[in-house]
Amino acid sequence: MKAEILSPSSESILRACDLISRGQVIGMPTETVYGLAGNAFDPSAVARIFETKERPTFDPLIVHVAPLTGDVIAQLDQMELIESEKLTTKAKETLSKLIDAFWPGPLTLILPKSSKVPDLVTSGLPEVGIRMPRHPVAQELLRSSKLPLAAPSANRFGRISPTSAKDVEKELGDRIEIILDGGRCEVGLESSVVKVQADGNITLLRPGGVSARDLEGCSGKTVQVLNSTSKPGVSTNSPGQLESHYAPKKPLYLLPEELSSKKLTIVSEKNLDLLRKYSTSSQAIGIMITRGDERAIGLKLEALLARKVICQSLSHFGNAAEMAQNLFATLRSLDDSEASVLFAESVTGQEGLAHAIRDRLTRAAFQSS
Ligand code: TXA
Ligand code: MG
Repeated sequence: MKAEILSPSSESILRACDLISRGQVIGMPTETVYGLAGNAFDPSAVARIFETKERPTFDPLIVHVAPLTGDVIAQLDQMELIESEKLTTKAKETLSKLIDAFWPGPLTLILPKSSKVPDLVTSGLPEVGIRMPRHPVAQELLRSSKLPLAAPSANRFGRISPTSAKDVEKELGDRIEIILDGGRCEVGLESSVVKVQADGNITLLRPGGVSARDLEGCSGKTVQVLNSTSKPGVSTNSPGQLESHYAPKKPLYLLPEELSSKKLTIVSEKNLDLLRKYSTSSQAIGIMITRGDERAIGLKLEALLARKVICQSLSHFGNAAEMAQNLFATLRSLDDSEASVLFAESVTGQEGLAHAIRDRLTRAAFQSS
């Protein structure tokens, strides 16, 4: 089987709905990353998602819902996705603020699960992750199918998340029938996963498209950032946050210090040591810089190291949203290049998406560390 990439006409949406109603899984664009979507209420469709991704069943799936307005929590309850009576008044207050501010968008909320949601979706946990995506094609699919869709990122387990239909084809093209093409993902990394506690405070389980500061700003609550790393088979608040994730096929090393400083004159000894230690002069190396001019820095490094350097920048002017948007696509492009080993500059700063970018880079480089 070779997946067809379909532009999102009403015909292709109908075809996608037909496949989904028959328990199949399809590639779906969202504003964060592409998902591998199937009927969240159908245990065999959910099982197919895990099989298709080769994903271990301890890692729960996020359930996507069509745009809703009004009392969203009550409607999720009516849809038999959640049991809202298990939420405290304080939790509901915070949840309503978050929903008003960030849905539809890159935020997943962990809520008490209804018994209609198969246990496999939540890996046996009593709570389910719910997200209302803002990508118009995802919204159209969710409305037309009239089903909640379970959708993990559409990559093979542990690999780089896909941010274009072509990426999904590369990852899973031999395993699924269709991929709806929604263009390049606007956010470029996954949703933030948030649990609102009984006292109304917020725990950030996975940093993502909505920053801790924005969560705090809109809710007036403190946000506890869980720097969690889960291990297979070990119970945790945040399963699936594995040390190694988002990984390229080639070894990836994080540079210990900033590379692309404004004054392009110094490459630190520490950086040079690492670059020399893990590469040889006969092989090309791939370098991902977070900001600055890739050509100038590439040439500079080529001269210093006396080896071929393929350098790609996430954002010339160091704009965090642009860095996030380009992160996975750039990693993938370097992974597909002639370079035999990859290096990445990490991201400094705490604000906005910097935290989420650093999280992804650290996990992507884990196997080589
Ligand atoms: O942006 C996104 O969230 C994308 C798009 C496709 O919507 N989806 C995504 O799904 O990133 P996935 O399967 O790659 O990541 C799901 C993660 C799990 O690994 C876990 O960390 C968290 O979401 N999660 C899901 N359900 C949970 C639950 N019941 N309790 C705690 N964490 C949960
Ligand atoms: Mg994923």
